[in-house]
Amino acid sequence: MQELPFSQASENNKQVILEILERHLKDGDQVLELAGGTGQHAVHFAANLPNLHWQSSDIPSNVDNLNLRLARAKRANLPAAIAIDVNNSPWTSDRPTAIFSANSLHIMSADSVENFFKGIGKILQADGTLIVYGPFKYAGEFTTPSNEGFDRWLKDRDPVSGIRDFEWVSELAAGANLSIIEDNSMPANNQLLVWKKSK
Ligand SMILES: C[S@@+](CC[C@H](N)C(=O)[O-])C[C@H]1O[C@@H](n2cnc3c(N)ncnc32)[C@H](O)[C@@H]1O
Repeated sequence: MQELPFSQASENNKQVILEILERHLKDGDQVLELAGGTGQHAVHFAANLPNLHWQSSDIPSNVDNLNLRLARAKRANLPAAIAIDVNNSPWTSDRPTAIFSANSLHIMSADSVENFFKGIGKILQADGTLIVYGPFKYAGEFTTPSNEGFDRWLKDRDPVSGIRDFEWVSELAAGANLSIIEDNSMPANNQLLVWKKSK
């Protein structure tokens, strides 16, 4: 059997993220996941939240990889992932009631982060929920020395990536009619941010 793509970080954080998703997502939600990666999150969340529909996605070059795990899971509420690069619109004709993305904003370029929020502003339904997991800076400061080291490592690997400023991301979110309702501090120096789109 073909080996599945695997991320130790996703394995470590999927349960703590699920516990917060359970508070914000409701039965019948149509969730779009951006930057699905290995599919470990998609499979875990779709299995534990069986009454919502989980549509995962990633950039075209990673969709086949992502689908290896999704196909193995064989779940009715977890269709095959679709190709979405946040820089290419329209993303999809669907209008999700919730959007989730983990560990993506510090990987993509600043222009891509802007397009991420523009796209969400267009497709997320009114009163919909946006949930974003990952590391952030506050008032220009890293939350921990280890995040500062992680930022250096990211930039050495790809100069366009890097840990984003919470305040800048908040401005982009406001431009997409999103209001922050929660900022949860998570293990391993990450945050889980929850926004609501205006009605
Ligand atoms: C560190 S991985 C995170 C994967 C997964 N969400 C997780 O938490 O394990 C970053 C992901 O961002 C995706 N990504 C990078 N640029 C993107 C873009 N322009 N549009 C959509 N996804 C992008 C990558 O393909 C990759 O799957």
